[in-house]
Amino acid sequence: STLCVENGFTLKKPIKLFKFKAIYNSLCYNENVKYIKGVSGIMKRIAVLTSGGDAPGMNAAVRAVVLKAISEGIEVFGINRGYAGMVEGDIFKLDAKRVENILSRGGTFLQSARYPEFAQLEGQLKGIEQLKKYGIEGVVVIGGDGSYHGAMRLTEHGFPAVGLPGTIDNDIVGTDYTIGFDTAVATATEALDKIQDTAFSHGRTFVVEVMGRNAGDIALWAGIASGADQIIVPEEEYDINEVVRKVKEGYESGEKSHHIIVLAEGVMGAEEFAAKMKEAGDTSDLRATNLGHVIRGGSPTARDRVLASRMGARAVELLRDGIGGVAVGIRNEELVESPILGTAEEGALFSLTTEGGIKVNNPHKAGLELYRLNSALNNLNLN
Ligand code: ADP
Ligand code: F6P
Repeated sequence: STLCVENGFTLKKPIKLFKFKAIYNSLCYNENVKYIKGVSGIMKRIAVLTSGGDAPGMNAAVRAVVLKAISEGIEVFGINRGYAGMVEGDIFKLDAKRVENILSRGGTFLQSARYPEFAQLEGQLKGIEQLKKYGIEGVVVIGGDGSYHGAMRLTEHGFPAVGLPGTIDNDIVGTDYTIGFDTAVATATEALDKIQDTAFSHGRTFVVEVMGRNAGDIALWAGIASGADQIIVPEEEYDINEVVRKVKEGYESGEKSHHIIVLAEGVMGAEEFAAKMKEAGDTSDLRATNLGHVIRGGSPTARDRVLASRMGARAVELLRDGIGGVAVGIRNEELVESPILGTAEEGALFSLTTEGGIKVNNPHKAGLELYRLNSALNNLNLN
């Protein structure tokens, strides 16, 4: 083991790594923060995988990883179906030709999988056996929070891994935006514009559900972009009677001839919400629609492509420098890295609780500025 002298970290206990190559000149590890910093330019072979829910722009990120690695003289392997493919050894060589035509395509050509077994040591050991077999020294993991934990485990086993935030939900810590969010918002906005057309023509009320898991970001952005009358998100309480009152007032005042409510899935389903409106006395011609997985596919926007390309290239630079156990994010348009596991004070994304559970430091919360903006634009006198 080596004493860590960089960034103020002190080595507090011996390193227990399954395979620790002599390439690292400093290993930063204490009870709180674990990441490794090695010698620049030594890593010669890395791998990339996509994990968790797919997101538009994942392909652009993989392409950037491959092309940047090639320019650094590093070989790249693709791992199919996330950690499941790693454990099964579904690993193959990537080159420039293989990523020639993927930049503009949605989804992930490496495919994705949910594989809970990787949260167990046994699964991780099987995975690193495969990495060893292929001579892979570092891994780029594109996915969400769960995927980041897998990246941390790999780093602890001596395989520096770097996480990139890939999800439409925009709900990952350590970044203002995730790869895929902008595209999902654009697709949801386009769909909402279409619903506006038919809602206006028939003088109807629509509840439109959009994905986002527990986060209201997609609903807020697509709601503002499409001129929604109301946006309902998990981050802000609502009163169904108020929702119905606003619909009614809009029609009765003559100010609105139709009404669109954008509903984040984290609140409830569109049908259920519409039923609650009826129970609360809504008398309008009401329809409920769920945009569903439609907003998870499609060609990434230019913004997502640029974000993915920047992050993919940065991940390779980090691995080139022997750094792992960190996730790349974007803050105020600048790329940043944060240790995945550590203390909140040290800027780590997650901490271990005394019971051994995982706690998210500074969890993501959708900006309610957009919520208030929507209220103001609809003259609802809220907040
Ligand atoms: P996301 O990455 O979008 O949050 P999941 O939570 O499904 O999606 O995580 C993706 C994958 O990451 C899981 O299927 C599993 O293989 C791996 N993973 C999740 N949690 C852990 C963990 N605590 N340790 C190691 N690997 C994990
Ligand atoms: O995390 C992306 C996401 O599309 C969420 O918005 C949604 O809640 C979930 O995944 C849907 O998961 P599945 O594809 O497994 O139905």
